[in-house]
Amino acid sequence: MKILAIVGSPRLKGNTDYLVEQALGEAAKLGAQTEKLVLSQYEVSPCLGCDDCASRDSCLLKDDAGWILDKFCEADGVILATPVYWYNVSAQMKAFIDRNYFLYKHNRKSQARAVGIIVVAEMEGIEDTVHTLKQFIDELDVERGRIFTACGYANRPGEAESNLPLVEEARKLGRQMAGEKR
Ligand SMILES: Cc1cc2nc3c(=O)[nH]c(=O)nc-3n(C[C@H](O)[C@H](O)[C@H](O)COP(=O)(O)O)c2cc1C
Repeated sequence: MKILAIVGSPRLKGNTDYLVEQALGEAAKLGAQTEKLVLSQYEVSPCLGCDDCASRDSCLLKDDAGWILDKFCEADGVILATPVYWYNVSAQMKAFIDRNYFLYKHNRKSQARAVGIIVVAEMEGIEDTVHTLKQFIDELDVERGRIFTACGYANRPGEAESNLPLVEEARKLGRQMAGEKR
């Protein structure tokens, strides 16, 4: 099983990244093949809204979104992870979501059968952020019972690490993604 984590935090080795590492570590222990993509390390520009996707073989924007979307399509499980920025996903995650319009217009979608949602906030906005991510994955063929969440509070780098219930939630998410039933 291939699990791809897409990380929307631009803060390298921050809270979101730490929780993703925990989840992937547990999934790998159960035999999953894991990969982490930190969006800020690539060029994923915001959609230009040309609305010409359907008549084009590839997006007008020649950046990294094309191959990232291919990986997103091929993964058996995807983890979408973001910090809360102004009560919703980070700009990097939103650009990635918007660029999925190209897939949508070509009747392509991720073959993922499990989705993990990891969201970290200082104090407010987790619900709206999870809602956005759930709306985004709504068109995928993922059973409700195969959508897992790990959400909680941390602010300064390293704080997630000491939020032990959140760390355990992220680890559990990784195990569940890899097929563990509990
Ligand atoms: C631009 C920006 C906007 C933020 N907006 C919110 C917010 O609306 N609600 C909140 O609780 N925390 C907010 N935060 C705090 C982050 O969610 C928090 O620091 C989180 O731990 C960052 O995760 P990271 O270390 O993975 O980047 C914001 C931080 C930044 C930099």
